[in-house]
Amino acid sequence: MAKILVTGGCGFIGSHTIVDLVENGYEVISVDNNSRSNPNILLGVEKITGKKVKNYKVDLCNFDDTFAIFQENTDISGIIHFAAYKAVGESVAQPLMYFENNLVSLINLLKCVQEFNIPHFVFSSSCTVYGEPDEIPVTEKTTPKPAESPYGYTKQMSEQIINEFAKAVTTKHILLRYFNPAGAHPSGIIGEMPLGKPQNLVPAITQTAIGRIEKMHVFGNDYPTRDGSNMRDYIHVCDLAHAHTLSLQYLESGKQTERCKVFNLGTGSGITVLEAIHAFEKTSGEKLNYEIGPRRPGDVVAIYANNDLAREELGWNPQYSLEDIMSTAWKWEQRLKADETVFSSQYGELN
Ligand code: WQD
Repeated sequence: MAKILVTGGCGFIGSHTIVDLVENGYEVISVDNNSRSNPNILLGVEKITGKKVKNYKVDLCNFDDTFAIFQENTDISGIIHFAAYKAVGESVAQPLMYFENNLVSLINLLKCVQEFNIPHFVFSSSCTVYGEPDEIPVTEKTTPKPAESPYGYTKQMSEQIINEFAKAVTTKHILLRYFNPAGAHPSGIIGEMPLGKPQNLVPAITQTAIGRIEKMHVFGNDYPTRDGSNMRDYIHVCDLAHAHTLSLQYLESGKQTERCKVFNLGTGSGITVLEAIHAFEKTSGEKLNYEIGPRRPGDVVAIYANNDLAREELGWNPQYSLEDIMSTAWKWEQRLKADETVFSSQYGELN
């Protein structure tokens, strides 16, 4: 059974990906310093899969501690690297913290890939590398524009580092450019746990609907889109998770000739903020308390994916709809509220 090391395994996409990997026969270990996640989320993974997953509570910026994990696990056949800071606004306020954390951790990990000759490496990248695209939908050949934030620059720089590293080793790499991950596992056992006030749209919607937030704001409705609000490509976290399993299988099959290959992971359709809100209201039956507010600095007007390459090469076929995103996200939010006592004892205090 191939052993996969998942960094950031206690995070939103990491934990859902571990479920998919285990369900597809992989043995998995997690490395997560839990600075922005809770190790108990792996109890939820165990509840879903029946498998215990060990987390190494290690900061990847500490090379010696990272190296020790590889010395202890000499049978790692692949790595999926999620661990990074990802809050756009925070990155503008603290750029050096973002460059140091996201790049030093990547470089330490790649040093271990080289030292231990790990054959497969999958990197969590983001559509943010495209900046404000001239044309949509974007394909993997769309030239990235200047990033809109230090967070976006760390993703662009990480891709460049991996591309150059790939020329020097025999390891094969895949860069997965996520569009907007959202939703939760249909079981309602794991989901997104934003720290503090949610920045992202879907948790802002569900926390408003459940009453944790009094009223949410739509950041501008005067953009050149069909209803004036920003357009994005919302992809269910379980579809995203499965794309990581397919990426490893693609690498293991030997089909990839390139040392480093990029794939867009989006549904291929653009949804505006107001359309997303209306989809939530229709799916949940809840009336959302929101008002139109000022634009948010750094927001791109519209972006969504051309996902032909992932469909053709990886055999990826997203299953979940926007309504599924809203219904699973809402189910998760309701579970968080209903089980606050049980939940906080299992997952620690909600921030
Ligand atoms: C989506 C739309 C907001 C909250 C970022 C990163 C991306 C990825 C996902 C990490 C925008 C609007 C939001 C609210 C709103 N990050 N919005 N009111 O900015 O597209 O992408 O997060 O992987 O890399 O760039 O996602 O969910 O923050 O915003 O109107 O309370 O929702 O203006 O148009 P974004 P988002």
